[in-house]
Amino acid sequence: MEDLKRKIEEYTVQFDEIALNLEDAQSLQDLRNQYLGRKKGYVTLLLEGLKNFPPEQKREAGQMINDFKNHIQDRLQSLKDKLTATPAPASEEKMDLTLPGRRLYWGSHHPLLRFNQKVICIFLNMGFSVESGPEVETDYYNFEALNFSAHHPSRDEGDTFYINDDLLLRTHTSPVQIRVMEKRKPPIQVINPGKVFRRGHPDSSHLPILFQVEGLVVDHGITFSHLKGTLECFLKALYKDKIKIRWRPSYFPFTEPSAAVDIGCHVCAGEDKNCSVCGGTGWVEIFGAGMVDPQVFKNVNIDPEKFSGFAFGMAVDRTAMLYYQIPDLRLFYENDLRFIRQFQ
Ligand code: PHE
Repeated sequence: MEDLKRKIEEYTVQFDEIALNLEDAQSLQDLRNQYLGRKKGYVTLLLEGLKNFPPEQKREAGQMINDFKNHIQDRLQSLKDKLTATPAPASEEKMDLTLPGRRLYWGSHHPLLRFNQKVICIFLNMGFSVESGPEVETDYYNFEALNFSAHHPSRDEGDTFYINDDLLLRTHTSPVQIRVMEKRKPPIQVINPGKVFRRGHPDSSHLPILFQVEGLVVDHGITFSHLKGTLECFLKALYKDKIKIRWRPSYFPFTEPSAAVDIGCHVCAGEDKNCSVCGGTGWVEIFGAGMVDPQVFKNVNIDPEKFSGFAFGMAVDRTAMLYYQIPDLRLFYENDLRFIRQFQ
């Protein structure tokens, strides 16, 4: 009996040693064969030895062998659980090359910039070239040369953002008309896209900083029909004919006669008396325009008896708002990616 006990102890110690260094399923299987193998497994051999025990000890010895067998079976099971639960080393991990890749979000131009480019492109196709001027202007270019007299009430709208008595952030792109005409003699056919700055309360269709595109055409025999044809051609190219256009008389100190050009309100189509975009009129003004005033020509030494011309200024942000059917101009400037990404 003592012999049996000692053997079981030896086998157990040996089992523990092997179990400690067990690495894979194959060595686990070898261990199982060594202990529970049907022909030469230790348990089988011990059971075979039972017949040599005297009858009164057989029961006890059988019990001991049985306990040992159960113990080994339990240990083998927990070793197996442990082996299957341990993840394979990283190098052996399988990669699934058929999975779709993770998409990176690429930045892109702001919708207003893209719209600006679209507008410029149409004018380029119509034969205009692009000019630029400074955003910080002198009083002379922003007002005086454009026929605004020093205390004229029409300065009020722009009476703001002064850097000193003479310098201010330009309130419109029209000063570029003067700069171009000082530099060049007719024929002139230019646009000037750029930022302008105005005092005023931001609301759904007004902002203190906005984009304009100025246009100027000067040559012999330019008439109001040329102005009308140019702007209508532009609007049709932009909106693909799906647009209502209205011309009405207006006033600017540097054009005579002057006009405002409206397009139909996309938000309410004139049906909502309280519409925040058109104020219930059904129309939104996007161009100020007119024939270049003879006094402006004199200011830049162009003879108004020989030349005539037209000029226009477009509110780009507002036109973009109508183009993309957005009910509030401020959305363009809030930089909410959920909004901006819709234009990609
Ligand atoms: N500069 C004017 C404005 O900002 C628009 C305009 C431009 C009007 C050219 C006539 C000619 O309102």
